[in-house]
Amino acid sequence: MSNASFSDRLVDRLAQAARVTVLTGAGTSAESGIPTFRDPDGLWEQFDPQELANVNAFLENPALVQGWYAHRRKLAQDTEPNPAHHALAQLEQHLDGFTLVTQNVDNLHQRAGSDDVVELHGNITRNHCIDCERSASDDEMEAIAEGEPARCPTCDGYIRPDVVWFGEMLPQEALQRAQEAATQAEVFLSVGTSAVVHPAAGLPLTAQQHGAYLVEVNIEDTALTDTADEILRGQAGAVLPPLAEAVATRRSTA
Ligand code: APR
Repeated sequence: MSNASFSDRLVDRLAQAARVTVLTGAGTSAESGIPTFRDPDGLWEQFDPQELANVNAFLENPALVQGWYAHRRKLAQDTEPNPAHHALAQLEQHLDGFTLVTQNVDNLHQRAGSDDVVELHGNITRNHCIDCERSASDDEMEAIAEGEPARCPTCDGYIRPDVVWFGEMLPQEALQRAQEAATQAEVFLSVGTSAVVHPAAGLPLTAQQHGAYLVEVNIEDTALTDTADEILRGQAGAVLPPLAEAVATRRSTA
């Protein structure tokens, strides 16, 4: 459980801000049962990202990489959004200028009701042809014969997940939206991210340099802890719901 209490100043700032921006990482989905990347028993403890989460590995062994992402897709589809996801969807409802930027590819923010999610690293529920970029339907992905790599019915190219692999550029439109939301933010919440993978990791600092009140929500210290204006030390699923409730109440009585 969280022992985090947030300041009344934070509730005021959130309720009055013209623009609030939130960056989420894998820690936001941890309480849904989805492993993070760098925690003990995280994904990168069990698998080598260089073997699975990059285009060369995919071209060398498309069936292995497709199978790993099919496993991660099923894990995401079999889990439920947790109170952290719902609290962020509630904040979006109650605030005028709210932007949710996520590094997560698990689609849980969307399933929790967040309407406008800036997906910096893509979304594991989407797949496309590596050659002609045609989107592959879920049925086509289900039809992957065991061990056979899924191929595009139009051009026979390999099908890949719609996620950003190591060494690849982030989707430019998403990155531009995220950077704009960081520079415009009056309050920036960094939730459940180790803040080590750029360019996402640069967003909190960009926000603070442009005058934002920077808040970290995490179970432990990160690269941001020393510079953040306020630390909510605890699980996102325990910290965010009371904060969202307090902001909703403040907004309704304003
Ligand atoms: N509540 C809040 N924070 C949590 C929780 C929780 N319940 N559980 C874990 N955390 C924190 C950890 O303390 C850590 O700081 O979440 C963070 C998870 O960090 P990472 O595993 O590094 O995940 P993330 O920051 O999202 O990684 C960024 O790296 O490998 C790439 O593409 C991948 O998007 C990912 C990117």
